[in-house]
Amino acid sequence: MHVLGIETSCDETAAAVVARDESGRGRILSNIVWSQTEDHAPYGGVVPEIAARAHVEILDRLVRQALAGAGVPLDKIDAVAATTGPGLIGGLIAGMMTAKAVALAAGKPFIAVNHLEGHALTARLTDNLAFPYLLLLVSGGHTQLVLVKGLGDYQRLGTTIDDALGEAFDKTAKLLGLPYPGGPAVEQAAQAGDSQRFAFPRPLKGAVRPDFSFSGLKTAVRQAAVALEPLKEQDIADICASFQAAVTDSLRERVARGLARFGGLFPAVETPALVVAGGVAANKAIRGALEDLCARYGFRFIAPPLALCTDNAAMIAWAGAEHFAHGEKSALDTAPRARWPLDEKAAPRIGAGRKGAKA
Ligand code: KG4
Ligand code: ZN
Repeated sequence: MHVLGIETSCDETAAAVVARDESGRGRILSNIVWSQTEDHAPYGGVVPEIAARAHVEILDRLVRQALAGAGVPLDKIDAVAATTGPGLIGGLIAGMMTAKAVALAAGKPFIAVNHLEGHALTARLTDNLAFPYLLLLVSGGHTQLVLVKGLGDYQRLGTTIDDALGEAFDKTAKLLGLPYPGGPAVEQAAQAGDSQRFAFPRPLKGAVRPDFSFSGLKTAVRQAAVALEPLKEQDIADICASFQAAVTDSLRERVARGLARFGGLFPAVETPALVVAGGVAANKAIRGALEDLCARYGFRFIAPPLALCTDNAAMIAWAGAEHFAHGEKSALDTAPRARWPLDEKAAPRIGAGRKGAKA
């Protein structure tokens, strides 16, 4: 089965073709991502209107490239999948309408995909991972620990009650005059810094639910920066190192709760797995801490290649393929959704999912 996927929920325009065989194994035939980071950099964050226009301008070309790169003509595509939420509504509309048009013109089914589900199922494409497993999604718009029990069966064990982790990196960078996106800049500056110089808080430490919180940390960073003004290069490096140490510590403690919870819920799973997704998974200190943690708890640590951790269309095509293989497809009047939690039936958490539109 060949599925064409389209992703436009934030600031990446992406198109991809994946194949899924009868046994459920996946293969990426093409995966094209056009990042708009440069368009948004002057504003220090994603501007929705600019993002939507940029998607419209380039999407036709990307779809053609994805098909050509895969060597699969449109009539050999079995279904067309697109992200229909959560995300910035203008961008979602651009990608979704393109996918519907292609599907209609080619006489193929259309499949609406939840962006978060794309992240959640990536490890099944890359590692053929069996359900159930635990997913830590850490991106610019989301920070959640999700129990992936089966296709369409997800439970959020924990979530941020305020800022997403990537957002905390981005705000810290902005505050210190470092470039956007902040994550890589903070990580780099931290290398020359003293992580002990500032005792930043470890939010929610000891809380039973594996939730996350980063806004208090942001305030502590601001106070430290204001007290030292004007900041010298070493001050910036030390703040970055201390900030990164605090978030790493916090993640270690919060995720440990999640691992223990998984063990309690699924004692029969012999080798449980923790999968990471989202741009923050690029951070080496965080990755290293999670790897150690998994080793300690007897978990496999699965970090898909970075290009598949960050936003891409292969994960959307794959999620579409998994649903299509189960005989599911979507109506052509499906509406896009700015908000679309993975576990819709669960009671909403304070602040959860309201921050940003990125995933
Ligand atoms: O998944 P992603 O590419 O886009 C969405 O948020 O959808 O994640 C981007 C986020 C940004 O907030 C960026 O600052 C953060 O991931 N990030 C990092 C690193 N690289 C990217 N955060 C910490 N360390 C990094 N090396
Ligand atoms: Zn995402």
